[in-house]
Amino acid sequence: MKIITTISGLRKELLRVRQRGEQIGFVPTMGYFHEGHLSLMRRAVSDNDVTVVSLFVNPLQFGPKEDLSRYPRDLKRDAAMAATTGVDILFAPSVTEMYPEPLATFVEVGKQGDVLCGAFRPGHFKGVATVVLKLLNIVLPGRMYLGQKDAQQVIVIKKMVRDLDLPVKIVVCPTLREADGLAMSSRNIFLSPTERMEARALSSALERARQDILRGETSARKIISKIKKLISVGTSATIEYIEMTDATDLMPVRRISGDVLVALAVRFSRARLIDNTIVRVK
Ligand code: PAF
Repeated sequence: MKIITTISGLRKELLRVRQRGEQIGFVPTMGYFHEGHLSLMRRAVSDNDVTVVSLFVNPLQFGPKEDLSRYPRDLKRDAAMAATTGVDILFAPSVTEMYPEPLATFVEVGKQGDVLCGAFRPGHFKGVATVVLKLLNIVLPGRMYLGQKDAQQVIVIKKMVRDLDLPVKIVVCPTLREADGLAMSSRNIFLSPTERMEARALSSALERARQDILRGETSARKIISKIKKLISVGTSATIEYIEMTDATDLMPVRRISGDVLVALAVRFSRARLIDNTIVRVK
């Protein structure tokens, strides 16, 4: 696996790949890999001739009071983990390589970026969409791999790809979970041992919600208040939001029908965690 840190170096390498007529798969990440990242990489490696993984903690998507400075970083560890999956290139640019001068041009994200996490992290999805567009323009992949854990990010990026006619197919891969159900996240290392135990309540509450919906519950309000109760009784976390939306456009749902997304975000003392489930109602 090659580690490339410059845009020109990566472009040169990938030009040769394209000239050979080979397919490029791309996994954008912010590093501090866990099995969830590795599963995206393995899928990309099996679908494509050449797989590029980007590792870039993008300052543009962090608010002024968020965890940019303490976001976990360990290039050596990440490179060793990525290499085990068969990835061909790890692209790890510096902030000045990606943003040599202040940007004047951004991707403006519509209403899908203002709800759920966007309501609590103003500008977050504008930062995500802008860096992803830059990365897509640098890598020019045929396929890009994203995790379902970031359900809102998937919807925002899919919309950008449609709106801007970007020639890339988005492949969404399932959320990977620890044995007790906690969704894998680079931020889980910030949980204290007690919080780590409590955090099981997130996925178990979502699973209860899924079962209730599949058994015929049609009131979003009832489902949401049950999840709220389970999380506030079972954890010390502060609930940021628990919401039910249409799974394709993120518009709020009252009576449950079609495909719905049940999504939540909570704050423990040092970690903000998100999780979600999509329920398909016949
Ligand atoms: O999901 C992430 O890790 C980031 O939001 C992404 C897509 C790499 C953009 O910085």
